[in-house]
Amino acid sequence: MEKLVIEGGKPLSGTIRIHGAKNAALPIMAAALLAEGRHTIGNVPDLLDIHVMLDILRELGCKADLSGDTVTVDTTSVSSSHIPEDLMRQMRSSVFLMGPLLARFGKVQLYQPGGCAIGERKINLHLQGLQALGAVVEETGSTIVCWANRLTGADVVLDFPSVGATENIMMAAVKAEGTTTIYNAAREPEIVDLQNFLIAMGARIIGAGTDTITIEGVSELQPCEYRVIPDRIVTGTFMVAAAATRGSVTLEKVNPAHLTSVTHVLKRAGVQIAVDGDIIHVSCHSRPKSLDRVVTAPHPGFPTDLQSQIMVFLSLADGVSVIKETIFEGRFKHVDELSRMGADIRVDLSSALVRGVPRLYGATVEATDLRAGAALVIAGLAARGTTVVEQVHHIDRGYDRIEAMLSSLGARISRESASYTRKTLLS
Ligand code: EPZ
Repeated sequence: MEKLVIEGGKPLSGTIRIHGAKNAALPIMAAALLAEGRHTIGNVPDLLDIHVMLDILRELGCKADLSGDTVTVDTTSVSSSHIPEDLMRQMRSSVFLMGPLLARFGKVQLYQPGGCAIGERKINLHLQGLQALGAVVEETGSTIVCWANRLTGADVVLDFPSVGATENIMMAAVKAEGTTTIYNAAREPEIVDLQNFLIAMGARIIGAGTDTITIEGVSELQPCEYRVIPDRIVTGTFMVAAAATRGSVTLEKVNPAHLTSVTHVLKRAGVQIAVDGDIIHVSCHSRPKSLDRVVTAPHPGFPTDLQSQIMVFLSLADGVSVIKETIFEGRFKHVDELSRMGADIRVDLSSALVRGVPRLYGATVEATDLRAGAALVIAGLAARGTTVVEQVHHIDRGYDRIEAMLSSLGARISRESASYTRKTLLS
């Protein structure tokens, strides 16, 4: 196990380039299975989740590699549609393989991906969508088998604009017979990126980015070359880190249009933000203003993946803020850890009342999930004294060497091996 050791209190300054979007690259890598041949996918970040997806693709019979920021996947010799349980449990995003494998082979066997620290994370909407296209779904215990002699286009109405369900249905529908329309579709930029990748393969899709996506099934798709969008959550994380340390940071290779709700919230709190093409300048030289309400919502609302980070920022604000988490029922695990650093936060069901304090203090804290871990790093950067963040593997799932990126902005942060953790010491 590893930990991050952070000496807080130093404003971040300088320029960094933001890597490609994990949550765009993962479904796109899965979608490569829809066409035989060799795909080249650029701007892919070097992250744990990407390597797990590469392992799963190899397990299915693909040749799959990451060299630099480019993934090559040759799906010619795919021979299996069984997603191994151990890999499935390592990463929920393996559920994205259901649609492509069903479309290509007419059958897929996988396992309930299981919940995680942020919530139950069911996949019922995925399964209902595939059933609407004609798939038969059989669940025995945690094993799920889907099969379909032929997928047929249909109208699919999602009870909730689920990102993963929208993506799985899109990938199953592109080779279905006839027209599929997805109503109440998720509108995240990663959905648009997947649409553009599928169109590059020869699919016929319109509407991604809106709540209605229409797909005309085609018989064949071709391998393609593609480049993934920048990671808006990593961008937002560094925007908050710059503001929380009262620094001045320039973020390059970003897409500001993917962050309008985040920019709006930070500006309301008194952060200076300037946009120039694919560059965002962020600076903050005064104590944050508190915000009466920040509510997470499906895109274009405030992203749930930045809820823990904005909570750190507002825990230092001048006044009381309320944060409401509407997407995941268990996404406040970082609150206890922040309280250990001196934050004053009260949780009531899906709302957190954040009473700003003048400063946070270094402590040994534990990352419980990917974004909570990133938030604790921000807290350590802003705090007085030394912070140790344990269970760093959670953070490595979504940030490519976060300590290197932060060090390049002047942070005093290092990665060390952890022979024990606070929890094991106390147990
Ligand atoms: C994607 O997860 C992202 N992951 C998540 O990012 C992100 O938080 C989430 O979308 C919301 O934006 C990837 O893209 C790999 P959902 P996903 O289906 O697709 C419920 C990160 O930190 N639901 O939109 O799993 C579900 O329980 C990760 O990068 C059902 O009830 O999210 C949740 O409460 C975390 N049934 C809500 O919908 C279903 O069949 C949103 O889930 C599917 C979802």
